[in-house]
Amino acid sequence: MEIIIKANYDLMCEEAVGFIHKSWQKKTNLVLGLATGRTPLGVYQGLIRLFEEGQMDFSEVTAFGLDEYLGLEANHPESFASYLEKILYQHINIKPENIFRLDGFPEEIENHCQEYENRIKQVGGIDIQILGIGTNGHIGFNEPSSSLSSRTRIKTLTRETLAANGLIVKEKAIPRYCLTMGIGTIMESGTVILLASGRDKSRAIHESVEGPITAAVPASILQLHPRAKFICDEDAASELTKKDYYKWVYDHKDKVDGYLKKLSQNRGRTKI
Ligand code: F6R
Repeated sequence: MEIIIKANYDLMCEEAVGFIHKSWQKKTNLVLGLATGRTPLGVYQGLIRLFEEGQMDFSEVTAFGLDEYLGLEANHPESFASYLEKILYQHINIKPENIFRLDGFPEEIENHCQEYENRIKQVGGIDIQILGIGTNGHIGFNEPSSSLSSRTRIKTLTRETLAANGLIVKEKAIPRYCLTMGIGTIMESGTVILLASGRDKSRAIHESVEGPITAAVPASILQLHPRAKFICDEDAASELTKKDYYKWVYDHKDKVDGYLKKLSQNRGRTKI
């Protein structure tokens, strides 16, 4: 697990964009899993910028939406499908046939979720999964108490999440259910990038990174992922007790190649 703390939101997004760009340079048919919400917006804007500058081409890239409200058609303005379309897909050259979405109006829920899982497998799995985090530690719509090995399925939205997403109208929640990739599904991604910005996320980040692994804090499962990156701004990182340690490790990461070179130059010369 890597904890990357950046001074502000823009730098945090830049870090994530840089990682995605480098990964694409190694594998142009990258498979991305994409969260919606406010947090990844800057990352998607950064990817659009790379496309416009001719530095990144999405013609071989595949994208899977992470979750969707149940009962909203794909073209509904509040659906995650239309959100991703608006903030990312329509600005890049990703092929429509390479965009996969959970359907807010599936004919049969279980089959649809299983097909989604199958599709992910067919393309060789998700290379990079982008996540945000809820103030209660949720990832996707896997709210606290979700099974840590869950697969894509229907979930009940909590009042907290509905309120955070502005979906409680006159005390009535619309919609009440969602489809989401499961925690087990997310854990199979090659790399997971969890983005967190703002002080309201600081408790969830502390509990996910430094607390026990528990279904009460779904993001804590990422402690078991071999390539999970928590990319946070200072506010989101403010409750981490080992902040200086994480910064030290990160600052030394880029120097490791130079260090190893120096070691090999000096091989055999060290006297005990
Ligand atoms: C959205 C999603 C959610 C959000 C989370 C944080 O697709 O899966 O888990 O990532 O609720 O939302 P923001 O970024 O709006 O604070």
